Amino acid sequence: MNYEKRTFEFPEINGLSKDQLALHIDLYEGYVKHVNILMTQMNVLAKSGDEFAYSIAELRRRLGFEWNGMRLHELYFEALEHGAKVLLADTKLFEALAKQYGSFSNWLEIFSKLSARGPGWALLNYDSVTKHFHHTWVADHEVGHLASLPVILAVDHWEHAYLVDYLPKDKGMYVQSYLNALDWETVSARFDKAVS
Ligand SMILES: [Fe+2]
Repeated sequence: MNYEKRTFEFPEINGLSKDQLALHIDLYEGYVKHVNILMTQMNVLAKSGDEFAYSIAELRRRLGFEWNGMRLHELYFEALEHGAKVLLADTKLFEALAKQYGSFSNWLEIFSKLSARGPGWALLNYDSVTKHFHHTWVADHEVGHLASLPVILAVDHWEHAYLVDYLPKDKGMYVQSYLNALDWETVSARFDKAVS
């Protein structure tokens, strides 16, 4: 099988320039390309005999980086496509965040400060077994995921996500711009799916 790169159309976004987004989309397309290259090469080597087992194992190790890079960016970009839409108070997501964190605004303040040194992602995950949200820091694209938990929200903290528009010391402003630009209908629909 072959993964197809997704296309995204963005409105004017306050705090995220067209140049920044274009650069970022180029990087995303590289992840899709390399997922397909890795899968093709693993298939070819698998047909060539056991002598390539070590090579296949190393390619498989790289797949986690490329595949998660692909999918996380899709979650990131699709939540910007339709323009900023607030999270309505009668949605399941709003109610569940308010229940766990006291209020939606409390949660948002905590999540907006979730960061760590080095490249990675700040994720909001939901565990439907315990009905509990988790905040996850995923280093690179693949280290630190919680198995089986759906990603409700994914914020890219790699420098490539903001360096066209912000200095590294102003990363917090970038995160705020991304959160301000979110289409919460899209994000909320992920939660609805997670609890259905
Ligand atoms: Fe990125």
